[in-house]
Amino acid sequence: MARRFDPSASGGKLAIASHNPGKVREIGALLGDFGVTPVSAGELGLPEPEETGQTFIDNAKLKALAAAEGANVPALADDSGLAVDALEGAPGVYSARWAGPEKDFSLAMERVHEAMADSIDRTGRFVCALALAWPDGHCEVFQGTVEGLIVWPPRGEKGFGYDPIFVPEGYEETFGEMDPSEKHAVSHRAAAFKKLVAACFESG
Ligand code: IMP
Repeated sequence: MARRFDPSASGGKLAIASHNPGKVREIGALLGDFGVTPVSAGELGLPEPEETGQTFIDNAKLKALAAAEGANVPALADDSGLAVDALEGAPGVYSARWAGPEKDFSLAMERVHEAMADSIDRTGRFVCALALAWPDGHCEVFQGTVEGLIVWPPRGEKGFGYDPIFVPEGYEETFGEMDPSEKHAVSHRAAAFKKLVAACFESG
């Protein structure tokens, strides 16, 4: 049985272990119905720990635990990326780093394309790990994935990151071509959130 988030404790405060205001807003909207008051790691003055884990879950855990301890309220962290089978799971936990210091995802997609060369296996998946941690060191983790194919050249301007080279299973458009609502219905992040909400936020 997973430990549940108790909105009556700490005024419902939940530290979002991210310095990205977009992520904090999005998570706040997703959990708003459950009496959650999201506070960003930035607002709390929390440092960003180094992502030294070998898996998405390890990284989500280390971020959530550091934030929960630093803020002394429960904290939620996510870690996500693209895993390509022909590249033995790369870029994986290094998905953001493949874009270099300029966060240039055209470059990151080019690197994936070049690394895959003419390999026949084009399969891959987006993975999202979520970790909900408490100041006493307890942590619940959830992972969502969406399977798909890596395509070239990149298509579509609607998404971010690696969206233009990823076609989810059962679709013909890339995530970059899909309307955000359509992407959110099938995405790795949606799948992980569904599990988190069912286990830790929904009543009954
Ligand atoms: P994180 O913020 O350390 O979890 O880095 C995740 C990286 O994975 C992002 O910078 C994106 O490049 C990539 N990524 C994660 N989710 C998606 C997605 O839904 N679409 C495209 N790229 C994604």
